Amino acid sequence: MIEVHTGDITKLAVDAIVNAANSTLLGGGGVDGAIHRAAGPELRKYNETLGGCPTGEARISPGFRLPARHVISTVGPVWHGGDRGEEALLERCYRSSFELALANGIRSIAFPAISTGVYGFPKDRAAAIAVKVMCEYAPRFERVIACCFSPEDAARYERELARRCPDRAAG
Ligand code: APR
Repeated sequence: MIEVHTGDITKLAVDAIVNAANSTLLGGGGVDGAIHRAAGPELRKYNETLGGCPTGEARISPGFRLPARHVISTVGPVWHGGDRGEEALLERCYRSSFELALANGIRSIAFPAISTGVYGFPKDRAAAIAVKVMCEYAPRFERVIACCFSPEDAARYERELARRCPDRAAG
């Protein structure tokens, strides 16, 4: 089942929350900053042992002080107009995160709108990519949550869900 939630992803008590990180995995602003603040300094310390993460890939860490058991950090593409493979890289972020979740027995997972903040990815195109991959993987999870930070973002995801996989949208 896919749920659209409006709120702060750091509050979600799920098996894993996904972080829109940068390639150092050592924290930043936006949702990255919120997750590191809520997880505590142990998250950065742990991530220092991971040696960074290329764009499109994902790495897993414990959730530490978060209600979520794990953090899956993925590095989204910076939007440069769309002719540098940004859409394929964003799709890879969702796939890499889902595959890593499956490999770690994760049954409930929440995603922020990766790359749509500081990295400037157009929100409509990003939502279409996110929902496409979520619809594909949802049958293999108990819960897939699109955690939006504004009602406008949530409405955008609801529209995409209705268009792409109405049968998977939680009522
Ligand atoms: N919970 C859920 N979503 C959030 C939260 C939160 N607490 N805070 C921000 N968001 C949303 C933003 O509104 C946006 O829709 O997360 C989405 C992604 O925005 P950013 O956090 O700016 O991430 P991104 O665009 O992928 O840029 C990543 O920003 O913070 C730095 O270190 C990070 O360099 C990396 C870059």
